[in-house]
Amino acid sequence: MRIPTWSIVVASAFAALCLGVGWTVASGGWTHEGALAGARITARWSFIWFLAAWTASALARLWPGGWRGVLLRRRRAVGLAFAANHGVHLVFIFMAVGVFHEPRGLPVLIGGGLTYLFIAAMAATSNNWGLRTLGPKGWKILHTAGGLMALIVFTNSYAGRLMTKPELAIPALSLIVLAVGLKLAATAKTRLTPQAA
Ligand code: HEM
Repeated sequence: MRIPTWSIVVASAFAALCLGVGWTVASGGWTHEGALAGARITARWSFIWFLAAWTASALARLWPGGWRGVLLRRRRAVGLAFAANHGVHLVFIFMAVGVFHEPRGLPVLIGGGLTYLFIAAMAATSNNWGLRTLGPKGWKILHTAGGLMALIVFTNSYAGRLMTKPELAIPALSLIVLAVGLKLAATAKTRLTPQAA
């Protein structure tokens, strides 16, 4: 039985909301610290979905079949779930930055805001209409650029926590290095054996 895309997206976003509310309640509730805790856990949850969507094709190219094939076939659902989860992160951002005045510099707001626009554009075009409208080349450019922007924001966020929270930053950055390594290895495999593409 094939699980419908919408139910994967809704279930993952609901889980994000439960995690965010749970962490907020456990960290002081409707307070500045509570809002930050909600923002942190929703970003972490979203990071897992991002990595799964971003590495799906590389994994399937390097080791075809099995769960990698399933992940590749459901990549659209996983990518949309990432976008929905990041929408939940935005709710906690509004709470932290908008309600409790967590300071964030202009470059962060512009960089993060622009990345959100790309994530929204990627979600809106993750369908046959989007592919037809943008054309395969335009679609690829949008989704490659958006994926790279999200990767850069995640990398920057976790690199900034290396000194204060190495127990979080080191595993997160290691996963990013692994994901980039998988992409490069898959590209090399395609170039060396074009029929594997
Ligand atoms: C204008 C846009 C954004 C704002 C204002 C914002 C704000 C925040 C805030 C307030 C936190 C909690 C920080 C803390 O407690 O120290 C946070 C955490 C985080 N955000 Fe966002 N964010 C934005 C966009 C993004 C985007 C686009 C991404 C990734 C694509 C992202 C990834 C993260 C990560 C990785 C964390 C840290 C999670 C952790 O500690 O494990 N954010 N953000």
